[in-house]
Amino acid sequence: MTLPAQTAPPGAPKKVTVATLASFRARGRRAAFVTAYDYPTAVFADRAGVDMLLVGDSAAMTMLGYPNTLGVSMDEMLIFARAVCRGAKRAFVIGDMPFLSYQASDEDAVRNAGAFLVAGCDAVKCEGGARVASRVRAITDAGVAVMGHLGLTPQSQAQLGGYRVQGKTLAAVQRLTDDALALQGAGAFAVLLEAVPAEAAAYVRERVDLLVYGIGAGPHVDGQLVISHDILGSFVGEIRPRFIRRYAELDVEVERAFRAYADDVRAGRFPAAEHLYPIDPEHEAEIRAARTPVVLRSAATKDLSTIA
Ligand code: KIV
Repeated sequence: MTLPAQTAPPGAPKKVTVATLASFRARGRRAAFVTAYDYPTAVFADRAGVDMLLVGDSAAMTMLGYPNTLGVSMDEMLIFARAVCRGAKRAFVIGDMPFLSYQASDEDAVRNAGAFLVAGCDAVKCEGGARVASRVRAITDAGVAVMGHLGLTPQSQAQLGGYRVQGKTLAAVQRLTDDALALQGAGAFAVLLEAVPAEAAAYVRERVDLLVYGIGAGPHVDGQLVISHDILGSFVGEIRPRFIRRYAELDVEVERAFRAYADDVRAGRFPAAEHLYPIDPEHEAEIRAARTPVVLRSAATKDLSTIA
C-alpha cells in the first residue's frame, strides 16, 4: 500500500526539525531562539523567522507574576504550549517540563513529556544532568526529543544559592561537561547552557555531540535563547540579566496606549462617530423616538444620569 505523501499547503513555510537544526550547525548558521507563551507572540516570532520557540516555565514569572519558576503547573504549561503551537508554522517548539513534572518518577516524566507532544510541541526540555539522565532516557525511549538544561537551572536555584553564574572554574566546567555527556548518553539531542562564561560553553561544546544552545553563555554555541519579555521590554520585575539587549520598550508603549485610552474615555473622545454602527436613518429615528425620556427615567429610579 502506498501512503499519501504528507505535504504542507502550497506556500507554507517548511517546519524546522531536529535535522534542520543539525544542518544549521553543519553550515555554521546560528539558530535564533526565544521564549513564547501565547498565540500572538508565536505568530510574530514565526513570521520574523525565529527558528526555535521555548514554551518556558519562565511563564510563571513573565505571564503569571510568580517570584520564581516553581509555581507553574503542568496544566497551565499545556495551555501556553497549545497556544504557541497553533501560532508556530515553521519554528521548532519546545515544551519546558515544569517543576515536579518529571522529578518523581519515570512514569510522570513520560506521561508529561508526551502531553507536550500531544499539545503540538516538537520536543521537551528538562533541567539537570546526570541526576535526571534516567528520566531523560525514559522520555527519549518513548520517542520524545529532549533538550537538557545545565548551568543556572532555575528550578534548583535554592540549591545553587540563587540566580548565579555557573561554570566559573575548570573543575566546574568539567562537571558541566560530564552532565552534558550523561544527557547525550540518555539520548538527548541538545543541551541549553544558562549563565555560564563564554569559555565554559566553548569547552562543553567541543566535547559533546549534542547541539549546544546558550542563554547568557556567549557566542560559541549553536544558537541564542532569550526570554522574549526581556528583549521586548515587557517583563514586570527587577531581574535584568547582563546578557540582555533590549529591542523594544513595550512596557512604556503599552502603558502609554492604556493611559491615552483611559483619558479619551473619561473626556468622551472615545467612542467617536467613526466607531458607531450606522443603521437606516428611518430606523434610527424610530428607535430614538421610542426611547424613555431621560427625565422620566431619572425621576423613577432617582438616577441622576443625564445621558441623552
Ligand atoms: O523557562 C525558561 O524560559 C527557561 C530559560 C530561562 C532557559 O528555562
